[in-house]
This record gives sequence, C-alpha cells and structure tokens, in this order.
Amino acid sequence: MRLDKLLSNMGYGSRKDVKLLLKKAYVTVNDVRLKDGSVQIDPERDVIHVDGERVKYEKHVYILMNKPPGVISATEDVRDRTVIDLLTPELQHFAPFPVGRLDKDTEGLLLLTNDGKLAHQLTSPNYHVPKTYFATVQGCVDAGDVARFKEGVTLDDGYVTKPGELVVLKSGTVSEIELTITEGKFHQVKRMFESVDKKVVYLKRIRMGNLKLDEQLKLGGFRRLTEAELEALSNK
Ligand code: URA
Repeated sequence: MRLDKLLSNMGYGSRKDVKLLLKKAYVTVNDVRLKDGSVQIDPERDVIHVDGERVKYEKHVYILMNKPPGVISATEDVRDRTVIDLLTPELQHFAPFPVGRLDKDTEGLLLLTNDGKLAHQLTSPNYHVPKTYFATVQGCVDAGDVARFKEGVTLDDGYVTKPGELVVLKSGTVSEIELTITEGKFHQVKRMFESVDKKVVYLKRIRMGNLKLDEQLKLGGFRRLTEAELEALSNK
C-alpha cells in the first residue's frame, strides 16, 4: 500500500494534508525520514512514525450510524444519496459498506464496515442474529398479534416467517411496538404487519445482536465502534 494512502486512511488528513506532512519531513518509516508518498509500505511490518508518534495500522473499520430517512443503505446509487456519502473522506477511504439493508425511510442503527467476515456472520440466516425495531403502527396491535408473530406469519409471497418477539408499548388506533426478528427478508417488518392488516408508519432499528443504537447520535450521525462494542458484537 502507498505510504500516503495509509496515512490518509489512518486519519492524518486528505492526500493533500499528507503530502504536506511528508514535505515537512515529519514522517519516518523504519527510522528513515521519507518525503515520497508513493513509496510502497507493508503495513504489517514497517514501523511508521508521524512527528514521533507511532502510527497504528488498522485494516478494518467499524462504524455505528444513526441512519436518517431519505438515504439509501448502499455504497452507491444513481439517484439518491447513500449512507457512504454521509461519512468523512477519512472513513470512506476504508471502503466500508452497510451491513444489511434498511429501507430508505427507515431510521436507526446501521453498522458499516469493510470486514466481510463479520458482515457475513451478522447477516447470514445461519447465525440467527436478532434485530430489534421500534415501530409506530396504524391499527390496534394486541395480544393476538403477539401470539401470531410468535408462531410466525405468512407474508404476501407465501413465506412463513420465523418467530418474532413482539412487545406492545402502546395499543390504540396508532400503536407503538418493539419487534425482534432473526431474519432479514425484504421489507420484513412492514410485511409482517401487513399480514395482520396493519401498517407501519415509522420504523427505526434499535439493536442488532449485542450492539445498541447510541441515542446520543443524531440522525445522520456516526462514530467508530468502541472496543467493547466490537467485542460484544463479535461474540454476538
Ligand atoms: N423491515 C422493514 O420493513 N424495513 C426495514 O428497513 C428493515 C426491516
């Protein structure tokens, strides 16, 4: 990997900023001062310092985002803004992608990473990772729905879902619920409610495995996962 790319990825600014650091002779590789950013580096072996500070190389990045409505959870889209567009260039350099999809109008917890192995473990149906959603639902959600969801409901295409754990927070003409499911079928939460003749009017993911939405993050906000969160998530 090029030295300037590595430094940029590790948070030392844009390629232009890094060029300046190099020009000012702040950067050493294996104790040799280097000014040429195009030098190839072995990040696992070479010892890099910037102004005396050891550069810790990280291959993977793990980002927790509070996804806002109106953006697509994909890496690119011809029409709409994507969750990747919201990130800083420093984080974009890692080429992260969203782990699983949230609909354009869905808000809440979205993990972005470039760690394909962890992403697979969190999304593969074989691992049954629970995902919890908060929803506002038009219609009176009651104990009957709780029982139906517990058994599994039949979606519009005939698919019978795995059991879902439905908790009714508020029941009325408009209800508030939390639903935990272990699958990720297309529009699954909305379609589960359609199967009982109700309509989801607001949807937010609040939990995935052991990872909780950080309510301090405003819509569109993001931060790197803490070590503790990453460890908890990896153990699912
Ligand atoms: N279920 C849905 O219907 N939409 C989402 O975005 C996520 C789960």
